[in-house]
Amino acid sequence: MGDNYDGSFDITTLGDGGGDESSEMARDIKSGLLSEPKDISPWPKYLYDDEGSRLFEEITGLPEYYQTRTEFSILEERAAEIIKRSGCREIVELGSGSSTKTRALLEAMLEASGGDGARYSPLDVSEGILKESGEKLDEEYADLDVHGYVGDFDGSLGQVFDDRDGRDDDEAGSRLVLFLGGTIGNFTPEKRGEFLREIRSGLASGDHVLVGLDLVKDKNTLEAAYDDSAGVTAKFNKNVLKVLNDKLGADFDPSLFEHRATYNEEMERIEMWLDSHVSQTINVSGLDVRFEAGEGMRTEMSHKFTEKSVRRTFEGAGLELTELYTDERSLFGLALAGL
Ligand code: SAH
Ligand code: TRP
Repeated sequence: MGDNYDGSFDITTLGDGGGDESSEMARDIKSGLLSEPKDISPWPKYLYDDEGSRLFEEITGLPEYYQTRTEFSILEERAAEIIKRSGCREIVELGSGSSTKTRALLEAMLEASGGDGARYSPLDVSEGILKESGEKLDEEYADLDVHGYVGDFDGSLGQVFDDRDGRDDDEAGSRLVLFLGGTIGNFTPEKRGEFLREIRSGLASGDHVLVGLDLVKDKNTLEAAYDDSAGVTAKFNKNVLKVLNDKLGADFDPSLFEHRATYNEEMERIEMWLDSHVSQTINVSGLDVRFEAGEGMRTEMSHKFTEKSVRRTFEGAGLELTELYTDERSLFGLALAGL
């Protein structure tokens, strides 16, 4: 099968409108390292180089990481209903990764449209995984037009939303914008609102958005999901140090840091940290950064939601919540919203 693939999968690399990537990264990371406490969590995208994407895929299969399988089970059960309610002919997916769970929706869309004009447009910053999964889908679903975008969803959403492939709006049919995996929880609350408003402004009448959100639950379950017994999440977290070494010429020694995940009940979020075992000075793009022994750097946040906070989030962004789908144990939620 793979040998006969004609390579027709289209891929567009999005520009960010100027500035080079590594200077943007140096600026972000330096500002994070100069804050108190040290905090690079506002820029989760730096966790996803090819190795980061591979490790994340491994996380999705871990026994402690209930999110992926739960989200998938909700999607499988509700796919036909979601497609019917949204009436979509195109699925645009932000931060698509391996697109594994999306298959449930793609199949339901193909069935509903009879394959006529069905389109899938995944966007991810991690080029390797986007290409691999886009090619696979293009090859497997003959009736599906797949068009991938490599780029940063910060600031490039407009380019994806404006691309209706030469079809006018009526012809294109309505769209479903997907944002799965609880990725929205990795944003700061401020960024989350901005992001949803940006999605909203890209929606045409009849379009919908479907967002996966992890729900508040007991501390032990949450902390185990981010500190698995096989140590994969620890590796994933530490991989960011390798990214900083490779891309910014920093001199972090990952063995001198320890992974820590704690649930902050007041803020309803998991916080991922890397704690320095020793006092040390790290050079990052010309900046000397001092770590005291035991001092941590926050690398990632993952906010958890309640029905109330989901409602507030969507209303605050001017989106109408159509439905909040969940599993029987209320572990994970999928919010469907429209204009
Ligand atoms: N949707 C998949 C993957 C979730 S992991 C799932 O549910 O399993 C988050 C994904 O978002 C990764 O594939 C990562 O590469 C991508 N990502 C993170 N920050 C991004 C950004 N700023 N722009 C585009 N993609 C981003
Ligand atoms: N969106 C995922 C989440 O918040 C990303 C994720 C899973 C993650 N495990 C992680 C991010 C560990 C950093 C570290 O659940």
